[in-house]
Amino acid sequence: MVQTQESPVKITSSGQNEKIHSMLQKVKVVTVIGSGTMGNGICHVFAQFGFQVHMMDIKQEAMDKAIATISKNMDRQVAKNTLSEEAKKEALSRITTYTDMASAVKDADVVVEAATENIDLKIKIFQDLDRLCPAHTILATNTSSISITRIGSYTKRPGKVIGMHFMNPVPVMRLVEIINGYATDNEVTQLVHDLSAYLGKVPCVVGDYPGFISNRILMPLINEAILALQEGVAGVEEIDTIMKLGMAHPMGPLQLADFIGLDTCYSIMHVLHMGFGNQKYAPATLLANMVQAGYLGVKSGEGFYKYTPGSKELVVSERFENKKWK
Ligand SMILES: NC(=O)c1ccc[n+]([C@@H]2O[C@H](COP(=O)([O-])OP(=O)(O)OC[C@H]3O[C@@H](n4cnc5c(N)ncnc54)[C@H](O)[C@@H]3O)[C@@H](O)[C@H]2O)c1
Repeated sequence: MVQTQESPVKITSSGQNEKIHSMLQKVKVVTVIGSGTMGNGICHVFAQFGFQVHMMDIKQEAMDKAIATISKNMDRQVAKNTLSEEAKKEALSRITTYTDMASAVKDADVVVEAATENIDLKIKIFQDLDRLCPAHTILATNTSSISITRIGSYTKRPGKVIGMHFMNPVPVMRLVEIINGYATDNEVTQLVHDLSAYLGKVPCVVGDYPGFISNRILMPLINEAILALQEGVAGVEEIDTIMKLGMAHPMGPLQLADFIGLDTCYSIMHVLHMGFGNQKYAPATLLANMVQAGYLGVKSGEGFYKYTPGSKELVVSERFENKKWK
């Protein structure tokens, strides 16, 4: 089990032991706010592991798409014999969709917020959650970079506010980076740790500094790849191939940026830039331009690569195709 040495939290053995199981009797209803790239995956795992899941989004069509994605991803598990057809049906029946936050959270034990990466939006959501949730509800955020302490400070329950940072794609990726805000209570960290282990994940507890650990290291790598492309050092394919074959990364940094969403990458770089006050974190102009123009990667259909529904072929966007790299 992974635990930071400084963490005040005593992390016990992993797995679904009795202690965890009895503790989880307290967590029955999990509300997930936002049903985009991450929200659908978070709903998927909680529903698969037996929780009642309330999915909430401002857009019903986003939730319809999320349910279809969950069903398709569960079909893959069924095909691999890691989930039965019956378990799939049961899991899907545990998910209810809401566009009204009050109804979505009225009986929530844990809320995981996975809405758009925007500080003002998250502050508003957490103020609303604080007002609408029962007193015992733990308010977790899946933010990639925004300060947990800051989000918590806008609530009357900062001790119950914590970062629960799942990785994309959630049903596949094993890590959950748990971020303690300055005011987060130890029991809350312990519960979220055990909850993550119960979902079959490996939790790592870290402190609340910009980008935490994962994105403090990953995003400057992606931004540097975009800077190299912007400067004409190499093309999209060359940059990704060098990192894949030379460094054994499973995916090149530009493809990964498309997968994460260029708007999300931009927001995280902005948080690092402002948080550390260091010019080395300034987002690449090419990244800013692509976000402004709506080229957000997989979710918009084009970023560094162009995505055709139903096709798995990796095709470089024609905007980068005809450049001569010297
Ligand atoms: N994309 C990734 O790879 C990744 C990985 C880890 C963490 N995250 C974090 O997860 C969060 C969500 O990212 P995403 O990539 O899923 O974003 P996304 O753009 O795919 O989805 C965001 C969803 O939030 C909804 N939303 C916006 N305002 C809302 C509100 N007020 N109430 C309810 N729903 C609202 C939108 O309609 C949309 O469906 C962000 O904080 C992001 O930083 C993303």
